[in-house]
Amino acid sequence: MGTQTTALELFCGIGGFAAAAARMHIRVAEALDQSPVALGVYRLNFPDHHVRKADLEKISAGELAGFDADLWWLSPPCQPYSVRGRKKDLGDPRARSLARILEVFPKIPQKRLPQHLALENVPAFAESQARALVVGLLSDRGYHIHERQLCPTELGIPSRRPRYYLTASREELTPPEPLLLQSQARPLSAYLDPELDDPPAELLVPPEVVARFGEGFRILDPADPNAYTTCFTAAYGKSFMHAGSYLRCQTGVRRFSPMEIAALLHFPPQFRFPESLPLRKRWHLLGNSLSVAAVREVARIFSL
Ligand SMILES: C[S@@+](CC[C@H](N)C(=O)[O-])C[C@H]1O[C@@H](n2cnc3c(N)ncnc32)[C@H](O)[C@@H]1O
Repeated sequence: MGTQTTALELFCGIGGFAAAAARMHIRVAEALDQSPVALGVYRLNFPDHHVRKADLEKISAGELAGFDADLWWLSPPCQPYSVRGRKKDLGDPRARSLARILEVFPKIPQKRLPQHLALENVPAFAESQARALVVGLLSDRGYHIHERQLCPTELGIPSRRPRYYLTASREELTPPEPLLLQSQARPLSAYLDPELDDPPAELLVPPEVVARFGEGFRILDPADPNAYTTCFTAAYGKSFMHAGSYLRCQTGVRRFSPMEIAALLHFPPQFRFPESLPLRKRWHLLGNSLSVAAVREVARIFSL
């Protein structure tokens, strides 16, 4: 492409794609999301990006055609396709924003379409009506498509977060050779904050909760070289079960701090949250975000 690649980040949240783009020399030309809280975090970390609050349920073909970007990255809501969200697929109101984009997509003039497009979602998206619609529309507009599932554990990161990734390009897509990343694998301890072995009360799981539900928790030993976390969901910090893993510490059992989860997602060390943002909100936003390392791996398929 010669010049620097530009991207449009749809459903940008706190900027998981932006963090990956920074390491790939992609310039995010525009980022859109409807959540003011997520956008506050995004703006704090990417002050130079043009970020806008927008309800994508209302986006028009004209607006989409107006973005001048080589790559569109989409991270639409996952709940319509997840078991937890009851798999209502396109019938779920939370799928309306993606459905709207797909509705207006055929009306965008060919020369205003991006060279590349990518979409990330939960693995069950692969069997959804939404996926069939996306693939059909992109094929009709002449895109080559490649789909894959990827989990950060495949990249040597001790954290499970399997996700579905669709990449599409107007150029032929040849999947690159897998990186030999196992050699770069780091143990869980490398992602932990040593000061939290004696954690503040807000991170500790009350002993009565551990006594009652502990059997069902995934409690990791920080010194275990083979330890890996399960997927941290947006409910971590709210519900105890099936929302993520816990750690054994000096004084009992604790939650992972938001910064430890951000590190496991491979956000850069300088990533931060607004001081006033409550802990639960931080966990919520990270649970909705994505593996920055996985995005970079997936984007290798494009000739950027
Ligand atoms: C799976 S999260 C994507 C998170 C993002 N990739 C990140 O790194 O934080 C889905 C995002 O879609 C946003 N969203 C949901 N419905 C929307 C709508 N109608 N218009 C714009 N954004 C919407 C949510 O606020 C949320 O940030």
